[in-house]
Amino acid sequence: MCGIVGVVGKPAREVILNGLKNLEYRGYDSAGIYLNDLNGHDYLTKAVGRIKNLEAKLTPDEQGLVGIGHTRWATHGKPTVDNAHPHFDESHRFYLVHNGVIENYRDLKEKYLQGVNFKSETDTEVIVQLVAKIARENNLDAFSAFKKALKLVVGSYAFLLVDSQKPDHIYIAKNKSPMMLGVGDGFNIIASDAISVLDQTKTFVDLQDGDVADVTKDSYHIETIDGEAVERKPHKLNIDPNAASKGTYEFYMLKEIDEQPAVMRRISNDYFSQDGDVKVDNDIVKAMADSDRIYILAAGTSYHAGLVGKNLIEKYSEIPVEVGLASEFGYHFPTLSKKPFFIFLSQSGETADSRVVLKQVNERHLPSLTMTNVEGSTLSREATYTMLLKAGPEIAVASTKAYTAQIAVQAVLAKAVGEAKNLKVAEDFDLKNQLALAAEGMQELVDGKEKIDALAKKYLPCARNAFYIGRGVDYAVALEGALKLKEVSYIQTEGFAAAELKHGTIALIEQDTPVIALINDPATSDLTRGNIREVQSRGANVMVFAMKDFAHEGDDVILPKIDYYLSPLLTVVPTQLLAYYASKNKGLDVDKPRNLAKSVTVE
Ligand code: F6R
Repeated sequence: MCGIVGVVGKPAREVILNGLKNLEYRGYDSAGIYLNDLNGHDYLTKAVGRIKNLEAKLTPDEQGLVGIGHTRWATHGKPTVDNAHPHFDESHRFYLVHNGVIENYRDLKEKYLQGVNFKSETDTEVIVQLVAKIARENNLDAFSAFKKALKLVVGSYAFLLVDSQKPDHIYIAKNKSPMMLGVGDGFNIIASDAISVLDQTKTFVDLQDGDVADVTKDSYHIETIDGEAVERKPHKLNIDPNAASKGTYEFYMLKEIDEQPAVMRRISNDYFSQDGDVKVDNDIVKAMADSDRIYILAAGTSYHAGLVGKNLIEKYSEIPVEVGLASEFGYHFPTLSKKPFFIFLSQSGETADSRVVLKQVNERHLPSLTMTNVEGSTLSREATYTMLLKAGPEIAVASTKAYTAQIAVQAVLAKAVGEAKNLKVAEDFDLKNQLALAAEGMQELVDGKEKIDALAKKYLPCARNAFYIGRGVDYAVALEGALKLKEVSYIQTEGFAAAELKHGTIALIEQDTPVIALINDPATSDLTRGNIREVQSRGANVMVFAMKDFAHEGDDVILPKIDYYLSPLLTVVPTQLLAYYASKNKGLDVDKPRNLAKSVTVE
């Protein structure tokens, strides 16, 4: 949530604007930039909406050799120009951008800043006013005043601060919000993620919570808030910048849906040896095999992947699994089993709701594993173990390839643990072959995308609401299909266990209500057909996505054959495509649905 970029030592305007465009996935309610030419001129410009609106407002002479920029996902105060960052103090000396939430901003305002004339409703402005007051009253330089202010702050932050009286420095501070320091030749750059500024440098320093730093064009000095010097080694990031580019695609979402066969192959290559043996860190396997219950915690799409993972782990590792919404679990811990093992599923590795749970897991000294797409992310660093999803950068706000990667990596883990327990069911599970089938099947489905576009055009343009139904693992996919469709097309969609509809919700079925039925479960396919007839006889337009073996003539999508427990890898693909086309055909910005942000770092 919220993206920040700062650069010192090179013409800053374009570098910042480009970085912010790459960070727009983190929020896009409003944006702003502060530039200083180090020659007595500075400029502050802010705009509501996307970076392009900010760009349009900038005049040609607004340039600088140092600058900080921000793209916002509103938490405190509406998306207005006044609430957009950078914020500044009354005397226009300090400029600050912030990603995070200051929990005690009201207390700080009341206690230290009575009489100050605030321009915005944000928590961030309180901090810049506080820094200014501390600097003024104690006659302190900017860095010292900043550190003194930070000691009073409770909350999460990635801050970039510029003092217009000494503008060739950017002062930075990090706590719980992501921030990377990029090291360049004659310049330094700071950003919320490394990918957003990969065109500038590939050398990065991972900043840790509690770090503050004074950054100039050819130096950076990192210390703790208490002034103790900290050494952090720069490292080269090995990411292909093309992996994060849209290429010839109009939207990232379709690119990422299309990448899923390649992701399956990569997972298969990386998690299996040449001989076909599953490869998972022994410590992880042992810790999990020793446990008597697995708790999977996640949010949104990752939670839905966890529901599929429960089926896989229970089937192939024979350990009971509970799946929890992190936001609920964190404040209502259930009675735990004697030997619990925690799995955190998170594409970004930054989700605040999950972090609340992990913190408590760590306080209880319990073992945990984060499955994430982002190496070095907060949840990865704080868990005992990490397994990477290997999906490549996911930029579209709606998650697609990370979901299927989460399912595949959970399957890898389930097999590894089952084999460690000498379970025949795990030994017989030919996962490598199944992942190859998944890749082939996904390819077949994405190659047939026009068919899904036609379904979207036929059934969805006028729909106000829609339903996904399914049983067993299809129910888990129904929840995910519904989330995808509603978040990108704004059609209110709910996922239901097929038989549950008749216990109340069937009252909402009207003439032409779209209902999408998912059928992969051999045990219940006939029963789901019965549920289809129930809604059809009440006027619903039913689309059926069914696995080959259970398909009937006239079904809309025939899903290739695969192990039932892995069938979500295929079933989800047409649901993703349906959401994509429903949104695109309405002329919406598929990659950036309203009100959303990727990487939700607030609770
Ligand atoms: C929906 C979506 C979100 C995320 C959720 C958790 O398409 O992307 O529901 O799944 O915000 O995010 P991560 O996986 O980063 O923890």
